[in-house]
Amino acid sequence: MADKPDSALDHFHAALDHHLPGGIDHHIPLLIDEAARCVAAGDHREAIQRWQDIAALLAEKTPEWIYHRLGEAYAANKEGFGGSPEENTLWGDCSKHDLLAWFNSVLQPKLYLEIGVDEGVSLACASGPAIGVDPRPQLRLSVDPGVKARIVTSSSDAFFTSQAEKLLQPSPELAFIDGMHLFEFALRDFINTERHMAPWGLVVIDDIYPCHPVQARRRRTTGAWTGDVWKLLPVLRSHRHDLTLLCLNAHTTGLLLIAGLDAHNIQLNNVYEEVVREYRPIAEPPDKVLDRHGAIPSNHPLVLELLQLLRHARRKCWDGVQIQSALAPLNKRIAAEADSLRGQARQLSERACQLPYPTIS
Ligand SMILES: C[S@@+](CC[C@H](N)C(=O)[O-])C[C@H]1O[C@@H](n2cnc3c(N)ncnc32)[C@H](O)[C@@H]1O
Repeated sequence: MADKPDSALDHFHAALDHHLPGGIDHHIPLLIDEAARCVAAGDHREAIQRWQDIAALLAEKTPEWIYHRLGEAYAANKEGFGGSPEENTLWGDCSKHDLLAWFNSVLQPKLYLEIGVDEGVSLACASGPAIGVDPRPQLRLSVDPGVKARIVTSSSDAFFTSQAEKLLQPSPELAFIDGMHLFEFALRDFINTERHMAPWGLVVIDDIYPCHPVQARRRRTTGAWTGDVWKLLPVLRSHRHDLTLLCLNAHTTGLLLIAGLDAHNIQLNNVYEEVVREYRPIAEPPDKVLDRHGAIPSNHPLVLELLQLLRHARRKCWDGVQIQSALAPLNKRIAAEADSLRGQARQLSERACQLPYPTIS
């Protein structure tokens, strides 16, 4: 484990998938001892990896105290994560936070849900009632006084198990998923979020485009870190043909917009285990992910059209079927546009990004 942690962890996962004798309960205490040993030795960077490895193995059963240890290791790590300037490079057109502020201002959601709050920069983009979920929020940026934000100090899995039913009233109309940067966590966050969203809701996923292959590793070795969240897009493309998926060339690591939501769809639940087994071992993002094939400029008119359509659907109280049929022609145009811009993302991101802030009746 100490010499080749990445492949050791893959073997560990595979062994667990094949019912390792003694089961996970037998082995986790050994890993916890290892993590505690790193803390005692003052190797906080390695401790972060170890606590996160444990979370990756325990998945939705990760107890909150593991997240607290992870948070303490982050706070104690004064050395950063290293990596060369090239490995830490970030690019894209409009800033993701400007985009979130724009989506909020156009959609005026009755409730905004955020998974992964950290310092509160994205939560501060909310324009109305908001709920932010994070096991270790470190609010430094105060949210707009006009925003009624509630921070739930909890992992997203625990939140969805015990608090979401009560707190997510009314249904969120805009959600931002930016929690644990491991794809199966982001996938669970999407599955759980969708169950609570209004049919005209919009889910935004961060980190779908790592700017360097090293940023996409499951074990963090760079300051700029997307983990393997990029895998969510191919999973959704393969298993949820009903969704509208719009990839933006946003700074810093792209954004995925998901509309056409269906709170009752259980397709992803049904394939979850199989998908995790298939995708977890994939080590590197393909070139088409690194080159952002399929992305369109963040201020493209199609983005505004999507927002307007969702607003209209809310005003008219459309059901899922009506929304799907209104989205169908837009989906075709998104696919055509993404295809025609293939290979140009890097070059296009060098243009200044003006966001339209239209008045919508
Ligand atoms: C990249 S930061 C979020 C940044 C923030 N959204 C922004 O743009 O300003 C990721 C956050 O996810 C949180 N996180 C990690 N695991 C989580 C989990 N299982 N559930 C919810 N949040 C989690 C971390 O504590 C961290 O604060």
